[in-house]
Amino acid sequence: MLSERLLKALNDQVNYEFYSAYTYLAMASYAESQDLDGFANFFRVQYEEELFHAMKFYDYINQMDGRVILEKIDQPKVEYDSVLHLFEEGYKHEKEVTSRIYNLADIATDEKEHATISLLKWFIDEQVEEEQNFNTIIKKLKRIESNSAALYMLDDELATRTFTPPVANA
Ligand SMILES: [Fe+2]
Ligand SMILES: [Fe+2]
Repeated sequence: MLSERLLKALNDQVNYEFYSAYTYLAMASYAESQDLDGFANFFRVQYEEELFHAMKFYDYINQMDGRVILEKIDQPKVEYDSVLHLFEEGYKHEKEVTSRIYNLADIATDEKEHATISLLKWFIDEQVEEEQNFNTIIKKLKRIESNSAALYMLDDELATRTFTPPVANA
């Protein structure tokens, strides 16, 4: 049985994961508007990942006999200056997610809620990968600068990203 405090915090995270999904879909939409289909694909896959995260928390709350309460999802940022700007904002966003996951882990640890600690361990590892993904592409984009041939090569590379739900965990 989850405490009220932990249940509330987990529900907030369900909302934040949906907000993350929405944020990345807005970024996909910006990339589509620039005819950068590979970048758009990258963010569409990211959108699916965030939906997967939201549902992972959703399923866990139900498993623990808690109730998921869906709230309003805030409007994501829709205006961007460049693809580099998308990744910089995405990187910032992922750092915010990491601090929220750490905060959840602190609450679960404080309450000695070991099942939740175990779930959050998965998310802690996932965040290392999420931050690294964004940081790597930021570094590539900075090296590319205004070389449009290189930008289209990166666009082609990002067109190949697909969403594969992780198997059998938690
Ligand atoms: Fe996420
Ligand atoms: Fe994420």
